[in-house]
Amino acid sequence: MYIGLDLGTSSLKALLVDDAERVLAEHTVGFDVSRPAAGWVEQDPAAWVSAAQDALRALRADNDLRELRAIGLSGHMHGATLLDESGAVLRPCMLWNDTRAAAEAAEMDSDPRFREITGNIVFPGFTAPKVEWVRRHEPEIFARTAHILLPKDYLRYALTGALYSEMSDAAGTAWLDTGRRDWSDDLLAACGLSRENMPKLVEGSAPTAGLRDKLAVELDLPDVWVAGGAGDNAAAAIGAGVVRDGEAFLSLGTSGVLFAANDGYRPDPATAVHTFCHAVPGTWHQMGVILAAADALEWLSRLTGRSAAELTSGLGPLRAPSRVLFLPYLGGERTPHNDAAIRGQFLNLDHATDATEAARAVLEGVAFAFADSRDALAATGTRINRALALGGGSRSGYWLDLLSSVLGFPLDVPEAGEFGAALGAARLGRMAATGEGAEIATQPAIAHSHDPDPALADACAEGLARYRAAYAAIRGL
Ligand code: XUL
Repeated sequence: MYIGLDLGTSSLKALLVDDAERVLAEHTVGFDVSRPAAGWVEQDPAAWVSAAQDALRALRADNDLRELRAIGLSGHMHGATLLDESGAVLRPCMLWNDTRAAAEAAEMDSDPRFREITGNIVFPGFTAPKVEWVRRHEPEIFARTAHILLPKDYLRYALTGALYSEMSDAAGTAWLDTGRRDWSDDLLAACGLSRENMPKLVEGSAPTAGLRDKLAVELDLPDVWVAGGAGDNAAAAIGAGVVRDGEAFLSLGTSGVLFAANDGYRPDPATAVHTFCHAVPGTWHQMGVILAAADALEWLSRLTGRSAAELTSGLGPLRAPSRVLFLPYLGGERTPHNDAAIRGQFLNLDHATDATEAARAVLEGVAFAFADSRDALAATGTRINRALALGGGSRSGYWLDLLSSVLGFPLDVPEAGEFGAALGAARLGRMAATGEGAEIATQPAIAHSHDPDPALADACAEGLARYRAAYAAIRGL
């Protein structure tokens, strides 16, 4: 049996599966995100560790774990967890959607080596500009920083005592030579750092270290390998079987992701597409990232005091896009704009606009943002013919109908079951323990598909054109 631990932005999920991938147990523990200033998003790494320990204890309480063979890790990407020489955390972790380091990112991005070596724009949310922000604004903390870890790699450190990362998450730091799958000494040096500050790299499907003795005894777990694991998007792709060239998923989580697997390294930073290593050797992936997807609906839900389900329940069958326009840039945007300063907008409100109409506009705005990512991927030569629909937002059939019509390709909804990042992490654990590879990353059975409605194609194209014009019109304000 295998455990997958998925460190999400608002909770950690632990999943226990047997050798036939039957789910034996799962346990989720929530924690907070703090937003101490505009554009700042932080988390206390101690909360991840206690959540992981609580979740492992809960699995242990109800299951005989003597047959456990490995643990795999998945986590939200790009966070900067800074440790001193003794391994103590120096400040709260700045998360993937923290955009305070926009000036530092722009400066790094103007040094052509970053795009050339990493294959990506240096986005403000990536790890390197955040550490540069610390170097400039909290020099005493930078001076004491001995080790820099991504969130799930800090969790690994807490569980094993070993400093490791793997290719898929490392690709989101802006310090990885993404084609060669190794740290770039040049880029680290450009930030006043060296390999000494970075964890050792393995493939996501490779073993790293065993559990700390004390922890294994305390949790009564056998001495098992912790696998390299993956950033949450690559882990979700392993869980959903998106590993072969041309396979794709669309994820409606806190962030929105349009993800395509590639059998080669095909960077194109100019399009604001992310090109990262995948979690199994010799594979890469591309994705467009929308900072607020289901998060935008959550925001409207907080604003109106109505749950997301209430807001969307009155929508009825899919119609042509509303005249009300919503731009979901609540915390800036990555693909395609790389614009940390832009903020969300409602346009064309009138007396008749009610909460349901506003919710419709929010779903439409996110769908248009996905169309921007589709086109950014297409500009690199990556065309998506159909995609799996994943993430909490994919429970809304209305949203999937809309997305499919706006994007012009079918979205496949998996049958109820486990196919997320926690399963991906468990699969990587299994690969590490058995030496198996991408062949065990199979796709889930499909329950139903959402196809584009040809009758709405023109109206959707017209809505998308208005959405794009709105961004161009308001960006200077
Ligand atoms: C990807 C990204 C997000 C986070 C949080 O680049 O920033 O998808 O991984 O889930």
